[in-house]
Amino acid sequence: MSRGDKLVEFLFKVWSPIYDQPIFQKPFYRRVHRAVLGAIDAGPPVPASGRVVDLGCGTAQLTDDLRKRFGSATVVGVDLSGDMLAAARKRLGAAAPPLVKGNVYALPLATGGVDLLTSTISYHWYLEPARALAEIRRVVKPGGRFVLATMASLLFKGVVGRARLATAEDTRGELTAAGFRVVSETRVRPGVRVFVAN
Ligand SMILES: C[S@@+](CC[C@H](N)C(=O)[O-])C[C@H]1O[C@@H](n2cnc3c(N)ncnc32)[C@H](O)[C@@H]1O
Repeated sequence: MSRGDKLVEFLFKVWSPIYDQPIFQKPFYRRVHRAVLGAIDAGPPVPASGRVVDLGCGTAQLTDDLRKRFGSATVVGVDLSGDMLAAARKRLGAAAPPLVKGNVYALPLATGGVDLLTSTISYHWYLEPARALAEIRRVVKPGGRFVLATMASLLFKGVVGRARLATAEDTRGELTAAGFRVVSETRVRPGVRVFVAN
């Protein structure tokens, strides 16, 4: 694991005990999750025995929504931070979906096995977007969907600390360059967009 990934891991270790507090979840993260679920519903159904992956799932709030929504599909959360996954397991107990520690640059997933891959507010931590998207492209089935909710910088672009601020246009270009076709783009709130790509 790179030094940068270790720093991100440490940041989320510190954040994990308070991440699920309503003060963070209600005004921001849950709103994004609802927008992602809406974008999924607007598209084709997920196959009953399909495979759904929530990448950068953190404390698995959205992963749990997906598990409830796609009961007969296999829903898996993947995240770099073992501490975020531990917080998810603590909150969800026996109902927790499978949660796997993994890095976007080397996903512990078979090639072409994923029908639907979601990622919310994690992409801006990937300082090598082309490398990350190539790995996401590898695991998503041809014809499968990638639903990406990410920051869309309005004023400034560049790297701040360990995070990358990109415009919506940049993200669209990155998706296209990685071989995805962007089928929809929705503004959730100023500075956050949901892209649906296949
Ligand atoms: C702000 S949290 C978002 C968590 C969750 N998706 C949500 O909407 O609440 C960002 C998550 O991305 C994860 N992450 C950052 N870099 C990653 C990487 N290289 N591979 C996998 N996960 C990563 C972090 O560990 C963290 O849990």
